[in-house]
Amino acid sequence: MTRKKAAITGVQGYIPDYILTNKELETLVDTNDEWIRTRTGIEERRILKQEGWAASDMGREMVKGLLEKTNTKPEEIDLIICATITGDMVFPDTANTIADKVGAVNSFGFDINAACSGFLYALTTGSKFVESGTHKKVVVVGMDVMSSILDYTDRTTCVIFGDGGGAVLLEAHDEFGIEDSVLKSDGNGRHFLNMAAGGSKLPTSAETVANKQHYVYQEGRPVFKHAVKGMTSSVTEVMERNNLNKDDINWMVPHQANIRIINTVASQLDFPMERVMVNIQKYGNTTAGTLPLCLWDYESQLKPGDKLILTAFGGGFTWGATYLTWAY
Ligand code: UT7
Repeated sequence: MTRKKAAITGVQGYIPDYILTNKELETLVDTNDEWIRTRTGIEERRILKQEGWAASDMGREMVKGLLEKTNTKPEEIDLIICATITGDMVFPDTANTIADKVGAVNSFGFDINAACSGFLYALTTGSKFVESGTHKKVVVVGMDVMSSILDYTDRTTCVIFGDGGGAVLLEAHDEFGIEDSVLKSDGNGRHFLNMAAGGSKLPTSAETVANKQHYVYQEGRPVFKHAVKGMTSSVTEVMERNNLNKDDINWMVPHQANIRIINTVASQLDFPMERVMVNIQKYGNTTAGTLPLCLWDYESQLKPGDKLILTAFGGGFTWGATYLTWAY
């Protein structure tokens, strides 16, 4: 008997209404539209401004839309995995808050904290529950409210990130689905990209607030270098071990951190940009949200059997590549 695969059977994104343009950022920090476009490829990003809304409210919108689209009742969901670094609270997790808000009363859930690689980690984790046959309908959410941890006086970070993300439904499939994943991490990378305070290492105090240690800290150049290397090597590894060459791949779906990273990875792999999903110009870097937002934006162009390689790199460091065949 051949084993069932875990296939994505629906995707639903959510982006907040408020558009923060490069022009508006020029009024907040010493930057300019030209620098942001040429150094990052970003033209605008979305910011969650709805009164009282948090990550779980974005999650609720994604999951509600996903259930509607796939004709699924909330009680049918067995598991919700939420990839995020900006959950509603440090604890409890946000997956179970989403379950409560959508009425997924039979689901259990947990969050995955792997920064920009969170969706890849969560997708792979969710696929194991479906492949094993223990769980039939698994929802994987990838999203972030990066505006909640950004310093809007720091031009090196506030221009890059945005809010949003998406959710996918995983179900068993005879033919298509998640085929293979190469997931990697290197904890030594924590020094280059982090939020220093609020955890057990540096609990919140008046001093940590005054020192702005509750905001994203990033050393851009080393992260850039590692991102190119990590994404290129993990895509190469997953292609090699599945005997794929670049002409077999219909779409590459890279984490949207910087258009120059995407261009460099594609060029090192000699992969044509026409088959690379790009939407960084509209949303910026939504951390765990970029990959599902790409799938959502390009959904109408995908066909059953299409071969996709998703790849990401982020804080941790964490990185990897997932090879999947599209099911609808
Ligand atoms: O998603 C998680 C993983 N994250 C990433 O993959 C991000 C990786 N890193 C990057 O994308 C890039 O390093 C950045 C976009 C963050 C920065 O771009 P860069 O080309 O590496 O710039 P840089 O840090 O080398 O800075 C070049 C110059 C500096 O000025 P000086 O020292 O040359 O005078 C910066 O102060 O650009 C300056 N600069 C800015 N100028 C205008 C930095 N940020 C800005 C800004 N506007 N927003």
